[in-house]
Amino acid sequence: MKILILHGPNLNLLGMREPSHYGACTIDEINQQLDRLARKLGAEVVCYQSNHEGGLIDRLHKADGEVDAVVFNPGAFTHYSYALRDAVAAVTIPVVEVHLSNIYAREGFRHHSVIAPVAAGQISGLGVTGYLLALRAAVAIAGEAGCDGTD
Ligand code: DQA
Repeated sequence: MKILILHGPNLNLLGMREPSHYGACTIDEINQQLDRLARKLGAEVVCYQSNHEGGLIDRLHKADGEVDAVVFNPGAFTHYSYALRDAVAAVTIPVVEVHLSNIYAREGFRHHSVIAPVAAGQISGLGVTGYLLALRAAVAIAGEAGCDGTD
């Protein structure tokens, strides 16, 4: 089981960027935590960050068929990128949307996600724990068992 962790714009600055919203952990520290959890779950993560819409779209296209699911923090693109939304809708693998901060408790423009309707689900406001929960969800959804609990 392989999961792509996809980080959008400005998330390369985590650790020093507005820690009151995004916490003190760097992107490398978050990726390391995800890597550790993935191993415990018998899975593997590949991590990618881009500040560019096209880079994220290209990576999503490449992920289809290469990984089993995606954990995606689209950053500010969440709120207005129809191109990214279409890319999420186009791929056949489940995409779990995650935000470190609670987007519904912040400025009005952050309250709307154009990604959410095409995502498998969304986690918002739980900091790094949210990424870890999103990884658990991605692994569970990708390996989903039938109603009787068997594969
Ligand atoms: C974010 C929330 C977005 O509104 C913001 O533009 C980000 C980070 C989050 O993780 O809380 O860049 O996606």
